[in-house]
Amino acid sequence: MKYDFDEIIPRRGTRSYKWDMPEEEGVLPMWVADMDFKTAPAIIEALEKRVAHGIFGYVKVPQSYYEAIVQWFSRRHQWTIECPWIIYTTGVVPALSAIIKAMTEPGDKVIVQTPVYNCFYSSIRNNGCELSANHLVYKEGRYTIDFDDLEAKAADPRAKLLILCNPHNPAGRVWTEEELRRIGDICLKNGVLVVSDEIHCELTYAGHDYIPFASLSREFQMNSITCISPSKAFNIAGLQIANIVAADEEVRSRIDRAININEVCDVNPFGIEATIAAYNEGEAWLDQLREYLWGNYQYLCEQLKAHLPHCPVLPLEGTYLAWIDCQATGLDADEVTSRLRKEQKLLVNSGTMYGPGGERFIRLNLACPRARLMEGVKRIIDGLS
Ligand SMILES: Cc1ncc(COP(=O)(O)O)c(C=O)c1O
Repeated sequence: MKYDFDEIIPRRGTRSYKWDMPEEEGVLPMWVADMDFKTAPAIIEALEKRVAHGIFGYVKVPQSYYEAIVQWFSRRHQWTIECPWIIYTTGVVPALSAIIKAMTEPGDKVIVQTPVYNCFYSSIRNNGCELSANHLVYKEGRYTIDFDDLEAKAADPRAKLLILCNPHNPAGRVWTEEELRRIGDICLKNGVLVVSDEIHCELTYAGHDYIPFASLSREFQMNSITCISPSKAFNIAGLQIANIVAADEEVRSRIDRAININEVCDVNPFGIEATIAAYNEGEAWLDQLREYLWGNYQYLCEQLKAHLPHCPVLPLEGTYLAWIDCQATGLDADEVTSRLRKEQKLLVNSGTMYGPGGERFIRLNLACPRARLMEGVKRIIDGLS
């Protein structure tokens, strides 16, 4: 192993949202979706070089930034993007908000597949739109899409957008080609634009390849907007950089305007350097990270199966966020979360955060050194046995 993901790096006192929010001592945070690993050495080197310059004025995003993105997606995901299709911004959530503002009128409906990443709800609400929930089907320990319901929701003339989460947080699904094609066909037929949040796209496991929605056909490409960022995979969320990819020029100019109205059009020098280094030099590090995360997931499954068999861990196809079914404890997700917090000093996310369908689950962030995970898993077992 070339990179050391076992290294325990204290994060308390580093102004970390995940680690410094709780004030009591001894709290183990396994909630907020960032990782307890150092980023790739190539990124650290690029940032050190930039810091050494000592001047941090406004930036001009260089051509090499766009080329790094285009080459990465072509090489790793067989998706051909053209540089002018890319709009940089300060994060995927600001991107989603700007896209909703650009592509809807207040009162329009936006479809999401619940339970889903909580900020989807606020972005929809903040832009005066109405939520249309296409509930995922949870059956025999796995999530699938209710396509009949999606068809009905998309057929509503007020439905303008579908925010797809691929891979899906928190369901852990990496949507298959067949699923994506069915979603794409339904949306095309009904004039619903697909906004695909692909922020977790690099973090997938064996047998579950990520397929960029827009890569499936020219029609899907023209009827979609994709949001990407190296932030989750390379642990650089604090650098606030993300990209919107839109092949349709008219759509792009509307988004551009909304980004300017939302005042999220200026990025910082570190986000740019980190993105270039990640996509040009981060591949080997990322592949080793994925193996490590998979090992963490397997450890979690083995331990819960042996010591807490009534709390199944759902299959994890992508993301580093495990979704654990706690229904058999007789407690709801908020009660489980608060018990773990009070009795075990362990912070996990309650499934209720993710909307309808999340009430029986907790979400556990697996992106930490194995020894830390072992401690967290022990606290779950002690708290729920
Ligand atoms: C699906 C999804 N989208 C967006 C984000 C946040 O993106 P950003 O920090 O770039 O705003 C997250 C963070 O967990 C996420 O899970």
